[in-house]
Amino acid sequence: EKGGYEWFMLKEMDEQPQAVADTLLGRHSQTGQLQLDEMRLSDDELREVDRIVIIACGTASYAGLVAKYAIEHWTRIPCEVELASEFRYRDPILDKSTLVVAISQSGETMDTLMAIRYARQQKARVLSICNTNGSTIPRESDAVIYTHAGPEVAVASTKGFLSQVVACYLLALYLAQVKGTKYGDEIASILAEIDRVPAGIQRLLDEGDQVRKLAADLSGSRSILFLGRHVGYPVALEGALKLKELAYIHAEGFAAGELKHGPIALVEDGLPVFVVVPPKGRDQLQEKTISSIQEIRARGARTIVLAEDGDDDVVPYADHLIRLPKVPTLLQPLVATVPLQIFATEFADQLGHDVDQPRNLAKSVTVE
Ligand code: BG6
Repeated sequence: EKGGYEWFMLKEMDEQPQAVADTLLGRHSQTGQLQLDEMRLSDDELREVDRIVIIACGTASYAGLVAKYAIEHWTRIPCEVELASEFRYRDPILDKSTLVVAISQSGETMDTLMAIRYARQQKARVLSICNTNGSTIPRESDAVIYTHAGPEVAVASTKGFLSQVVACYLLALYLAQVKGTKYGDEIASILAEIDRVPAGIQRLLDEGDQVRKLAADLSGSRSILFLGRHVGYPVALEGALKLKELAYIHAEGFAAGELKHGPIALVEDGLPVFVVVPPKGRDQLQEKTISSIQEIRARGARTIVLAEDGDDDVVPYADHLIRLPKVPTLLQPLVATVPLQIFATEFADQLGHDVDQPRNLAKSVTVE
């Protein structure tokens, strides 16, 4: 039941700190040793993996895009991400050293299911990341990592997404452990950072009023853009998808670096644009994103900037500033997504839409 909430989606957003903690629970020791009980692939089989292909649909595919950055960085195994509905119709090259990772909250999405059946026929090994115990996709996989987020009722995924991202990190770190691309103490320190994330999510939920007020102010907008770089790019895609799904307005996510290759033509006076700014430090991602903000603002965009605590460089260019708790770059999607979920929910609510059951959508799509 809704437990006093107006929408399941609000309840499920509030459950995110617990969902993330539960996905981590019992899976690692203080020293960083990972233990994944449902990992039915042996360490020897995993050491043979020379390529990872992630397949999923919708929000789950954005969890996969986030995972790609972490998997390649921590394991040095090449990783690609593909929509399940495209994957099997292009005659993909697969063999037994390919690990296909299927991500699905429901475990019943037909496109994803057909893709893993195809992958297994081609002798690839299939690992699924799934929230629903005993559902079809994990039953037909060689191994499974359950997300333990608890039942998700609202059609648009929230805690499902965050727990999928966490499960992907666990997989990446497990592969790093088995392959020896990261030492135990490095893995332990990354896990310690992930352990601190639920508190950061809680803070953003507690500060939700600021975002709700912004959503009310902008609820007359017919188009909103989202920009991000690196792992902020899939966050931008997810922010836009949430708004399409719930508010039925035009919303698009772009890679900030692509701006000048097309999307900047869309910018006009007063257009709201969310920008996810990466933490300072790595490859000048933060500086480059700030110059994107300057470019769109010079053309009249109303900028809504998500930046970590203490990043003062963004202040002059932000019409609205949403502060994020400090986390390492690769973990930023776990916090940056939360205000975007709050925004889309409130925006849809302001328009009088059914937040839990958006028109034309279903929670699990069991047709191709
Ligand atoms: C869509 C839902 O139809 O399926 C999305 O509307 C969801 O919210 C997508 O992300 C994938 O679902 P699942 O269960 O495979 O993660």
